[in-house]
Amino acid sequence: MLKVGLLGAGRIGQVHAVNIAGNPGSTLAAVSDVNAPAAETLAATYGAAARSSEEIIADPGIDAVLIATSTDTHSDLIEAATAAGKAVLCEKPVDLSLERARACQKAAAATGKPVMIGFNRRFDPNFAALKGALDAGEIGRGELLSIASFDPAPPPVAYIKVSGGLFRDMMIHDFDMANFIMGAAPVSVSAIGSSIVDPAIGEAGDVDTAVVTLTYADGRIAVIRNSRRAVYGYDQRVEILGSEGLLQAENMLENTVVKSTTAGVSRAKPTYFFLERYMPAYAAEWSAFVSAVAAGSALPVTLDDGIAALAMAEAATRSATSGTPISLSDI
Ligand SMILES: NC(=O)c1ccc[n+]([C@@H]2O[C@H](COP(=O)([O-])OP(=O)(O)OC[C@H]3O[C@@H](n4cnc5c(N)ncnc54)[C@H](O)[C@@H]3O)[C@@H](O)[C@H]2O)c1
Repeated sequence: MLKVGLLGAGRIGQVHAVNIAGNPGSTLAAVSDVNAPAAETLAATYGAAARSSEEIIADPGIDAVLIATSTDTHSDLIEAATAAGKAVLCEKPVDLSLERARACQKAAAATGKPVMIGFNRRFDPNFAALKGALDAGEIGRGELLSIASFDPAPPPVAYIKVSGGLFRDMMIHDFDMANFIMGAAPVSVSAIGSSIVDPAIGEAGDVDTAVVTLTYADGRIAVIRNSRRAVYGYDQRVEILGSEGLLQAENMLENTVVKSTTAGVSRAKPTYFFLERYMPAYAAEWSAFVSAVAAGSALPVTLDDGIAALAMAEAATRSATSGTPISLSDI
């Protein structure tokens, strides 16, 4: 039984608490948050102790920590937890600074402790099935990947200001999805971005709408489209065209009823946002972590994957600013 300390009792920490407590291979021993009442409330729900992050990391009775704190704390906490001998699952992104993330990668690797990054979409049953069919050769060689990832509504501008920008905060998931599906990193990244949804996002120095093209050494191409606004719900689709067919993973809908009348044919909207869409994926992600740590086997998503996606985000940020494609070898 893996004894787990959860660092961060915010939005995503609360999701992880459900899965840690609900998994037969793990138990939620302690919860921390710099906002003490948040930690106390969440800990009390699961009969866990509310403690500081430092106390949890220093406790030899805790086997693993799940880092769900604000992004600017991730690298420091990964380093401290691995140095203390813990297995770690840390939320994305590893850091907003690629340089800092690489230093963290080096320090964590020196401890030999396993670190998984929370790219939960790999565990979405639809995307996992698409990847399985592609790898089984069911559409021949995958040649053109298209990822659409639209949020229902933009976050507050106060969040945008500390987010690191759309490419590091939001599209980071899609960069990892591209790496997951294509099984390789691209050689070059080309990006355009615009603040057409909310000019205040542009005034804060960010974009809310972006298109990125990834090119691969063997000639394959991927296109990622992001928007902070899709008024009909959380739109998350992946499509890959291959030499012998097409694979498409569509949205999860609020229900499966299709209404056909003289006015036309209609069906329900996509589920509202990530908490609705990805609950099964977060649970599967945690199960995969627990199983790998218990077996001492390789983790399905690593710190290296976190760095690879962050490097692509850095390249996209530079490309959107400079207007030129950026070679990943220059990052
Ligand atoms: N994988 C996903 O789908 C997904 C979804 C949402 C958020 N995230 C990531 O998860 C992280 C948290 O996001 P959120 O939306 O839950 O934010 P949030 O603000 O709701 O929660 C973060 C919590 O961390 C606490 N905190 C900050 N520093 C701390 C420290 N040193 N020790 C303990 N607690 C600390 C804050 O008080 C806050 O309660 C971010 O890095 C975000 O990018 C990932």
